[in-house]
Amino acid sequence: MLRAMSLSARELTALRSEFPALLRRRNGKPPIYLNSTCMTLRPRSVIAALVRYYEEFPTCGGGRGDRHHGRHNWFQGELRAHEEAARESVRALLNAERCEEIVWTRNATEALNVVAHGLDLEPGDEVVTSEREHNSNLVPWLEVERRLRARAGDPGLVARRFFDLAPDGSFVLESALAAITPRTRVLAVAHASNLDGALIPDADLRRLADAVHRVGGVLVLDAAQSVPHRPVDVRALGVDFLAFSIHKMCGPSGMGALYGRYDQLERLRGFIVGGDTVSDTWQDRVEYKPPPGRFEAGLQDYAGIVATAPAVEYVTRRVGYAAIQAHELELNRHLTGRLLALECEHFQVLGPRDPERRGGVITMASHSGPLINAIERLADEESNVMVRRGMFCVNAYLHRRFDALGRAANNLRASTYFYNTLDECEVLCEVVERVVRDPLAYLDDA
Ligand SMILES: Cc1ncc(COP(=O)(O)O)c(C=O)c1O
Repeated sequence: MLRAMSLSARELTALRSEFPALLRRRNGKPPIYLNSTCMTLRPRSVIAALVRYYEEFPTCGGGRGDRHHGRHNWFQGELRAHEEAARESVRALLNAERCEEIVWTRNATEALNVVAHGLDLEPGDEVVTSEREHNSNLVPWLEVERRLRARAGDPGLVARRFFDLAPDGSFVLESALAAITPRTRVLAVAHASNLDGALIPDADLRRLADAVHRVGGVLVLDAAQSVPHRPVDVRALGVDFLAFSIHKMCGPSGMGALYGRYDQLERLRGFIVGGDTVSDTWQDRVEYKPPPGRFEAGLQDYAGIVATAPAVEYVTRRVGYAAIQAHELELNRHLTGRLLALECEHFQVLGPRDPERRGGVITMASHSGPLINAIERLADEESNVMVRRGMFCVNAYLHRRFDALGRAANNLRASTYFYNTLDECEVLCEVVERVVRDPLAYLDDA
């Protein structure tokens, strides 16, 4: 594990050499990947584990918990050992009590759907979220609301309520606590925002957990943007369910996980059902497996599961959270200082001003779509900088806050991870500076 301080140039060079994608060149220049909020790059150890599955034991998992299943054959035995190691690595990552509390999913989105569709909510029950949730933690609850409306025969029934954030997008504990009522069954929030990196401090999260438990509800944490960057301890935080994506932390595409406290998982109905979710069936009835099998329908992404353990190992041991946080803060300080200095009538930075209160994410906004397009295009064409433009699946929040200002959709996001350098961040800042200082020189061909 690397030091608790920001990474030295030597350490950074060594880490970067383990990511094959960073060795690529276009027009003689390396890639500058500033889109890790969406999906990170992968180190060689993860890629090797994916290949290993296909080369050495490319078989199915073989009926965990199926009452009539026989012994595991050679390949299945090896796969099972890897699968168990992967589940244990995620259990330890989150400090969950048991491996059976970890359910494999394709991503955080699926994990959140498993919870939203599996809870037995009744008309009158309420789900509380913040105003700035990713669509993956908004749409499933809107679907719950739609179903409850149909069930109650009341098109005006409100099941999802949201609480406001501060004007700069920071979390406000009092506002979240005030939204919890005796009818609250679920409080579902993002731990860290994918728009502006704003975080819910751990102490506040614990207070939220206690408050929602007092009224008999559950805390669902969308940890897609926190688990890859900081330690998350589900027991210390009092979290009942937690969703995250392994592909946002050096793991394979299309791998995610749901943590559920075991007693909560036991109460949850299966969302996608069929093969592998049952221990036995008859023509007219079904006996479901206990968790986690009940939630893992059909054959799985076994290569992805096998490669999950090396991804967790890379993030937590090869690099280590302390080094990740220190390094991201250094990058974020640089980006924040440079970009805030450029703010003007046609260019703003979203989110809290203090980089200490944000993860390694910074989003720039403008009422001028062409200006944002020009930055994105120049950064890509001149310097291979990969950033992301648009609404980043937080459309509802951006519409609410910025429609009236006519700039809800003109955003450009740069997001860092431990493999990024200050020089890379500066390349982006330099492009932004040129365009913002002299927009007319660039807008015509945007
Ligand atoms: C906060 C947050 N929640 C949920 C998701 C959904 O993650 P996935 O697309 O991996 O399901 C994302 C993805 O960017 C995210 O940033």
